[in-house]
Amino acid sequence: MATPFGTVYASNLTPDDDAGIGRWSADDFWRAMHDGRSKDGRALYPAFPYPQFTRVTREDSDAIFAYLRGLPAVRRANRPHALRFPYDRQIVLEAWRWLFFRPSAFVADPARPADWNRGAYLVGGLAHCAACHGARNAFGAARAPGRFDGEQMPQQGWYAPSLHDARQAGVADWPVEDIVGLLRVGATARAGMAGPMAGVVAHGTQHLNDADLRAIAVFLKGLPADSPGPAPQGATDRDAAWLARGARGYDAHCAQCHGDEGEGVPQAYPALAGNRAVTMDPPVNLVRIAAHGGFPPQTAANPRPFGMPPFTQALDDADLAAILSFVRNAWGNRGSILSAPDASRHRGSAGE
Ligand code: HEC
Ligand code: HEC
Repeated sequence: MATPFGTVYASNLTPDDDAGIGRWSADDFWRAMHDGRSKDGRALYPAFPYPQFTRVTREDSDAIFAYLRGLPAVRRANRPHALRFPYDRQIVLEAWRWLFFRPSAFVADPARPADWNRGAYLVGGLAHCAACHGARNAFGAARAPGRFDGEQMPQQGWYAPSLHDARQAGVADWPVEDIVGLLRVGATARAGMAGPMAGVVAHGTQHLNDADLRAIAVFLKGLPADSPGPAPQGATDRDAAWLARGARGYDAHCAQCHGDEGEGVPQAYPALAGNRAVTMDPPVNLVRIAAHGGFPPQTAANPRPFGMPPFTQALDDADLAAILSFVRNAWGNRGSILSAPDASRHRGSAGE
């Protein structure tokens, strides 16, 4: 895992005695999950999301441990982390923990219904949604614990949008069924999961049972909604030539899938008209998808998703920016105009 402080390598969790956690007890495993310390007492790096896992119950920790013990043992030694000085020093990590981490437990809110509490437990603990959606300070620690204000993902080029903001990833006004569908299928008529979020659905949420998905949906709907703020500055008369260039590019490269009016094709190509992934600020994910293409998650409910081709070779920064400015301001959409430097800044490389 690339972090701003260097590379962290995830450890072997199979029951191999030497390479894995074969000699660990359930108490050792609980200490890692709850206190962020390894069997030998060494502090673990919070790239292992123990700031969230600390809220997992002892019962769930024991169940996960029992499951891991049943996996075939793999003899593959852990790779040492490659962190930059001074982040490679345990004393720096201990200082970080002293400043930013306290072991804690999930405390149910008796004023809320049981499904909300179940959702709060899952989102705040095992599902560790805040690991990406929570704003961070310069030391990589949560700036506002318990909130999901959106954050640029370090070293990854993706922006994990705010779960409080209806223009970003807020779902307060969505029916529970649509939120459940998004987390199980990876796509609905109005949104698709892309980039790192496609992995969250493919490897995580699609496997949850209906009751847990509904509980998460109820919790997400109840998050305090941010007031929407000023409407984005849309296109003006001065942008006419830029938008005309974008419209020509759209007809040549995009319309065959997304439709002449950005209407998309149900179950195949997302609509771009009325799609907040198109108009969102910052426009980071929009530029990345158009440049590098991608696939929605492969799920049991959507086993062979259609992919979006990459355009990073076919379109230079100016053409890409003109097309995206056009789609952000066509068919009732309203979003800020992008310039060639904007496209250059956000497109990054496919592997990031
Ligand atoms: C590994 C980082 C990561 C984790 C963990 C993560 N997300 Fe996301 N999420 C993202 C990114 C990046 C996006 C933006 C890409 C997209 O819209 O698909 C996103 C988008 C979303 C969206 C917006 C979908 C849309 O297009 O309207 C929702 C809702 C969401 N996430 C909810 C969650 C929930 C709930 C969890 C915990 C179960 C979670 N995320 C965990 C990174 C993450
Ligand atoms: C061959 C068909 C095809 C073409 C051509 C195509 N797309 Fe796509 N596009 C897709 C598919 C399939 C997806 C869903 C991919 C995903 O969710 O990861 C998609 C997703 C997107 C998204 C993300 C929507 C969301 O809700 O997250 C945007 C934005 C987008 N395309 C813009 C464009 C633009 C701009 C062009 C032209 C430069 C273009 N597409 C050309 C098939 C296509």
